[in-house]
Amino acid sequence: MTATIRTTGESRGIFARGLRKAYGGKVVLDGVDLDVMPGTVFALLGPNGAGKTTTVRILSTLIGADEGWATVAGHSLREAPDAVRAEIGVSGQYAAVDGLLTVEENLLLIADLLHLGRAEGKRRAAELLERFALSEVARKVAASLSGRTRRKLHLAMTLVGRPGVVFLDEPTTGLDPRVRRTMWDLIRDLAASGTTVFLTTQYLEEADQLADRIAVLDGGRIVAEGTAEELKRRIPGGHIRLRFTDIRHLNAATDRLALSTVTRDDTELTLQVSSDGRIPVLRAVLDVLEASGIQAEALTVHTPDLDDVFLALTGRDRGAAARPR
Ligand SMILES: Nc1ncnc2c1ncn2[C@@H]1O[C@H](COP(=O)(O)OP(=O)(O)O)[C@@H](O)[C@H]1O
Ligand SMILES: [Mg+2]
Repeated sequence: MTATIRTTGESRGIFARGLRKAYGGKVVLDGVDLDVMPGTVFALLGPNGAGKTTTVRILSTLIGADEGWATVAGHSLREAPDAVRAEIGVSGQYAAVDGLLTVEENLLLIADLLHLGRAEGKRRAAELLERFALSEVARKVAASLSGRTRRKLHLAMTLVGRPGVVFLDEPTTGLDPRVRRTMWDLIRDLAASGTTVFLTTQYLEEADQLADRIAVLDGGRIVAEGTAEELKRRIPGGHIRLRFTDIRHLNAATDRLALSTVTRDDTELTLQVSSDGRIPVLRAVLDVLEASGIQAEALTVHTPDLDDVFLALTGRDRGAAARPR
């Protein structure tokens, strides 16, 4: 194996090896490795209690790891936590939006905390109000905002300091689908502007939609890592499902298609043929049926999604709760 010395161009990335954390004997992170390239969106995907927030808290210097090391934006967490802090934005870092302040005042408050200076703070606030379509509510007190607008303000506050690396811990949990899409667009814009985005999510679809790479965290361990496509390819599960009107057709089809991997269900009168969903395979199956005079009543093509990936990797179903509502 060749060792690579990481130098220029990767200074906004996140690299971690062997991160461990336990609370009173309970292991929460059990040796987590991460490689997040600069300017990419990385999703840490996992169920409740997987260790996502703990990972974000460690990488954003809020708590220390028991073991392991990491660099964020080119700085060592252990040696230079202040330098890391200067480069990052963390959703949730300034606990919350202050309901008594106006939208603009909330942004200016962060600018103050970051010592940006009055003029620069004002400029930055104006820029973010515009970018997040918050200008109209700039003078409203935050307490009067809808949940959706509040969430946008929260993200805007995270960006006041122009961070090169942004941590978003479950940015869309609890949002309705339409608002979730607005957040997705904002996150995509952020990535398009060159910012490195590290987000955590319980939503498989969210990781699929946003992330260049996904790591699946389960019980404090990374159980899989790759692009959404790579993860999907790792698992079997793609198939064509044929339904017949009577058992004779099902029998005949089972005989004719016996060369492929087939699974039949005599009650449902269905036959599943393994397939990666490509058209030539589909056509071949239909040709065989037609040539034999077998009529299928219905045909569906199932390509594996990230739910299948999770099931294959952890042996557990994520359940309906894990899907965006
Ligand atoms: N400060 C803490 N003290 C004790 N246990 C904790 C603490 N923080 C987190 N945990 C435990 O660590 C596990 C992972 O938590 P967390 O990182 O919040 O998971 P996630 O964000 O993926 O839901 C959970 O079982 C949680 O109860
Ligand atoms: Mg969490």
